Amino acid sequence: MLFANAGRLQYSISDIPNFLRARALAAKADAAIDQAKFQEVVAKHASEGYDSYKYFDKQLWLRTKMMRVVELGLDKSAHASVLDMGCGAGYFLYCCKYLGHRVHGLDLPDYEFYRDMIALFGISRTGFRIEPYKNLPQLGRRFDVITAHQICFNGHKTEWLWGAGEWDFFLGDLEENYLNPGGTIGLEFNEEPAIGFYPKEVRRYFESRSARIFRGRVILSQGNQRSRQARTESPLAAAGTTR
Ligand SMILES: C[S@@+](CC[C@H](N)C(=O)[O-])C[C@H]1O[C@@H](n2cnc3c(N)ncnc32)[C@H](O)[C@@H]1O
Repeated sequence: MLFANAGRLQYSISDIPNFLRARALAAKADAAIDQAKFQEVVAKHASEGYDSYKYFDKQLWLRTKMMRVVELGLDKSAHASVLDMGCGAGYFLYCCKYLGHRVHGLDLPDYEFYRDMIALFGISRTGFRIEPYKNLPQLGRRFDVITAHQICFNGHKTEWLWGAGEWDFFLGDLEENYLNPGGTIGLEFNEEPAIGFYPKEVRRYFESRSARIFRGRVILSQGNQRSRQARTESPLAAAGTTR
């Protein structure tokens, strides 16, 4: 494994071509940012804690998120519509927008630093709290690619971490109401203390959906998924759980 990130090694030799491509694209995307306005946002939030401060390293975040873009093939695909849930400061969506995609974010409404970054990047966003077994709000359109990166809305680091039932409801809602036919859902998990990226039953659930799973990433292409109607209880049964 190569390349340390936040104290962890995360890429392997086979990632080098993607990594180099992401780095080159990130530099171009960076050059297109209004640097004076970015510095204004940084100055405004300079005295805040780590949740804002960590995103001041623009080069690091653009490289990291452009790598996610490349892994999803969005650097080479035709222009797509992209929804990012828990979009935070908006670096991933900005990378997509830079490459010509139409983008929209969803996040908790109140964090001012995120709002300022999203405004800097010129991205539309819906303020909403994702909760287990609760449908997302109407967004008025569907998307070709739906993502969530470094996910926290799944009860990350809490006692109520989502299981297969919560994920089945959430993905079912996305597929029925937000994802275009043939679309892709790309998830990137944070590591949980002691258990890895998610409980074993959740991994079995994703496997039962023929997801592509690598290094905390779970990618579901709709060609691999059955419709919600057809799925009934079987993915949960395959995961060894019931709702
Ligand atoms: C670790 S940050 C990741 C931000 C961004 N996705 C990234 O990769 O840089 C987690 C994000 O999830 C958002 N979030 C946490 N709980 C949420 C919830 N219940 N509903 C919607 N967003 C949530 C936070 O506001 C924050 O933007």
